Amino acid sequence: MSLTDNCGRPLLNLRISITQRCNNRCAYCHREGEVQRANRSAELMSVEEIVRIAKIAVGLGIARLKLTGGEPLMRKDLPEIVAGIAAIAGLRDLSLTTNGLLLGGGMAKKLRDCGLRRVNISLPSLNPETYHKLTGGKLEVALDGVKVAIEADFCPVKLNMVVLKDVNVGDVPDLIEYAGRTGVVLQLIELDPVNVGDKYYAEHHRSLDEQENMLREKAVTIEKRPFMHNRLIYHLPNATIEVVKPIENSDFCMHCTRMRITSDGKLKPCLMRNDNLTDILTPIRKGANDEQLKELFVKANLLREPYNESK
Ligand code: 5AD
Ligand code: SF4
Repeated sequence: MSLTDNCGRPLLNLRISITQRCNNRCAYCHREGEVQRANRSAELMSVEEIVRIAKIAVGLGIARLKLTGGEPLMRKDLPEIVAGIAAIAGLRDLSLTTNGLLLGGGMAKKLRDCGLRRVNISLPSLNPETYHKLTGGKLEVALDGVKVAIEADFCPVKLNMVVLKDVNVGDVPDLIEYAGRTGVVLQLIELDPVNVGDKYYAEHHRSLDEQENMLREKAVTIEKRPFMHNRLIYHLPNATIEVVKPIENSDFCMHCTRMRITSDGKLKPCLMRNDNLTDILTPIRKGANDEQLKELFVKANLLREPYNESK
């Protein structure tokens, strides 16, 4: 069973933002489309609240969950959140998006032991200066995060590379080579305008057409992910590259199967919009029962609409 919206799109994935805080400050960060900066702790969902929402979601067939932020590892209770969600019957996938800086010191292994299955690590460059300029962080620490994630046996480890004009486009071949050598999947991501400012977007947005042409030539096979925006995966002889092209892409939107939940507990049907949120945290705190919470998901699902409509 799964919920379907008014355009026939099934609801299969939930991205749960657990904090807006981050130890990096990437110039391009969309902060999952949330309006305000930073969270006061009172606004954050507790471990129990997050696990309860996840349980309701899985019960409705939304069985693939992603923890995101901000940087999820800024929360010391992340292992408890992971363990609580991993124990939900019917869960089909649990992954984490992280900048990787805090995965060292045994954390990657700990999260794996708590039931986390996959990680996506943001890695916009393999050049220490570019990495620092873009994120404020240290490349060597991020690379250590990738290493410990591989050692902890996350399957797969994916690298998220947002491709920016005049900044890191030239680093794409390096990242492809690195992905092949280390056995991780590389995602090339087109810059999204959300929360980045018009000027930054105008200066740095770049279509991924050139990269796709190059990948098409090198690929042995090309796979399509129908339940993930119709994204293409290029299987090169020794590397796997996924391309994420959301901008003005009606096909991407028509094959969107996700919903989000903001760090302050609001169901968010679309990354691009903030005018159709449904507060679920306040009802939880006021004692709503499971049926009432399910109704909120059903209602929010019906507010899902493709942002880019086919013409
Ligand atoms: N456009 C596209 N992708 C982005 N990410 C962050 N900001 C943007 C943006 N403006 C990616 C990062 C991170 C993931 C949560 O989203 O690579 O890994
Ligand atoms: Fe945003 Fe992620 Fe960069 Fe943090 S590491 S600033 S959450 S893109």
